[in-house]
Amino acid sequence: MNNESLYLRQNIQVEPLIDHWYAWPHLIPPATAARNITERHMKIMNSYVSCPQIHFNAVKNPKMAGGPFIDLAGGRIDEVRALRDRIKTERTHLFELSAAISELDNMVRTNAKGYSLHPLYPQVPDILRGYVELCYDLNHQPSFRLIEPLLYKSRYYDQSMQSLMLSAIRSDSRPFMLSTPRLEDDASLHLRIPFASPVLDELFQLKSSPKGREEIIEMLAVSGSQAELLGSFLTREPPPQYVPYQGPGVRWRYFGHACILIESQGVSMLLDPVLSYTYESGISRYTYLDLPDSIDYVLITHNHQDHVLFETLLQLRRKVKNIIVPRNGGGQLQDPSLKLLLEQCGFRNVVEACEMENIRTGKVQITALPFFGEHADLDVRTKMAWLVKIGPHAMIFAADSCNIEPRLYEHIHREVGDVGALFLGMECDGAPLTWLYGPLVTTRIERAMDESRRLSGSNFEQGRSIVELFKCKEVYVYAMGQEPWLNHIMSIKYTSESRPIVESDKLLKWSHERRITAERLFGEREILMEQAHVAPSLDTCELIPG
Ligand SMILES: [Fe+2]
Ligand SMILES: [Fe+2]
Repeated sequence: MNNESLYLRQNIQVEPLIDHWYAWPHLIPPATAARNITERHMKIMNSYVSCPQIHFNAVKNPKMAGGPFIDLAGGRIDEVRALRDRIKTERTHLFELSAAISELDNMVRTNAKGYSLHPLYPQVPDILRGYVELCYDLNHQPSFRLIEPLLYKSRYYDQSMQSLMLSAIRSDSRPFMLSTPRLEDDASLHLRIPFASPVLDELFQLKSSPKGREEIIEMLAVSGSQAELLGSFLTREPPPQYVPYQGPGVRWRYFGHACILIESQGVSMLLDPVLSYTYESGISRYTYLDLPDSIDYVLITHNHQDHVLFETLLQLRRKVKNIIVPRNGGGQLQDPSLKLLLEQCGFRNVVEACEMENIRTGKVQITALPFFGEHADLDVRTKMAWLVKIGPHAMIFAADSCNIEPRLYEHIHREVGDVGALFLGMECDGAPLTWLYGPLVTTRIERAMDESRRLSGSNFEQGRSIVELFKCKEVYVYAMGQEPWLNHIMSIKYTSESRPIVESDKLLKWSHERRITAERLFGEREILMEQAHVAPSLDTCELIPG
C-alpha cells in the first residue's frame, strides 16, 4: 500500500459520544451525566425494547418531534437491548451516583427545617460526602452545591465512556440526538478516543494539512475493515484555501442558528459555533471550509446543546485562541460549569466572564450582558448575551435572552449606550422544563407547572422594546433552529402559523415601518459594516493575553 498524503474528506461527520449517546453538555459533568443516564437513556431504551412500534409511529408524527422516541425504524432491538444491558453492568457507579443525588435531595427536603445543617452531614449519602456543601437561602429553603472540580477527579468522571463515530454525511437528515443512541454499522468508524486527546486535533488538522495513509492509520490505531473504511474517508484532493476578510470595517457571516463569524482587520470571532459539513444540498450554507485558520475568540452565550455543540467545538479546538464563556453559579446541579467541562474536553484557553465585565484587546471590546429567562426559571447563571464593539460598530448577540423584565435593558443601556445591531432569538414557544431538565428533577412535577415553565425566548413586544431602547439600526432574528442541518439538535419545524414566526414577522414589519433594517436569518448571510453606528465608550477593561 502506498503512503500518499491524504486529507480528511469535508463530508465526514464526527459525532462525539458518551456510551453511544450523542455528547451534549449535560453528559460531561458526572452528576448531570449520571442523572441523564438513569432518567433519560435507560427509560428511553427500556421503552424501545418493550414496544418499538410506539417509537416507530411517534417518530413519523411531526407533533412528537423532539420527544423521547428512538429513531431506528422500529428495528435493531437486540442492539439497543445489548447497549442498555452493557451500560447497566459497566456503569453501576453512575447508577449509584444518580440514586445518591435523589436521596440527598430528599434528605435535605425532609430534614432541613431552618436549624443548623451541621448535624445533617453524616446523613449525606456516603458516596457524596465531601462532594457537597449543604446550604439555605435567606428564607431557610435548603439546598446543596456540588464541588464540581473534585467530582471530575473522582471515579465518576470516566473518559473511557467517550468515543467518536465517523461516517460520511450526504444529506441533512440525522436522528434527534437526545432520543436516539448511535449504533455501530458497516458505514461508521467508531474511535474510542477521549475528547481531551490531542489525537483529535491531529485528526481534524487532516482537513487542511495532509498526512501519509500509514501515519493516519497508526495515529487512529485502526486495522482490518476499519482501516479500509477509514481509507474511504480520506482524499488526495486538497480543500480550497480560505481567504480571510481584508476589507474595511467589519464583515459578519451567518452560518446558521446562532453561529456568526465576525472578521475585522485581522481579528476573528465566532459565536455559538454550530457548523454544517460540506456536501451537495439544496440550501446554500457556509461550512467548516469558510473559517480562518485561527480564530481569536469563540464566544458562547449559554449552556444549551444548540449553543455548545461538541461536534463542532472539538473540530475547531486547535484553531481557537480564546474561548469566552459565562461564569456559572457554582455547583448547582442544573448549572454545571461550562469552563470546567470545556477544560475536561481539552480546551486550555477558557475565560469566564461575569455580568457587565469587559474584555478588551486592541480595537475589540466584548461586554458580557445579563441574560434573563429561557431556562424554565431555574437558577442557571451560565448564560450571557454579548455586546461586541469593534471600532465604531456595536452589536448585541442576545441569543435566547427573554426580555421578561425590560428594566434590565434600561439599566444596561445607561451603561453601554445605543447599539447599532441586535441579534435576537425569538423562539418564544420553548419546550417545557422537563424536556431538558427533567432527569435532574427528583420530585414529581405537575403537568400544569411543567407547561408553565418553559425555555422560551423573546416575543414581539419583548424584542421591540430592546430595539427601541438601544435605537438599533439593524435587527436580525436568529437562533431559530430552522436550518435543516441542525435537525438532529433542534427537532423544530415551524409553519407560517407558529408563534415564533408570527411574532418575529411582527418585529420585522414593525422595524421596516421605521426604516430599521430587519431580517430573519436563514441558511447563510453576509453583511459588510463599513459605516459607523455609534461611538464606543471604552471603560476600564480586562486584558486577555494574546
Ligand atoms: Fe437556549
Ligand atoms: Fe437556542
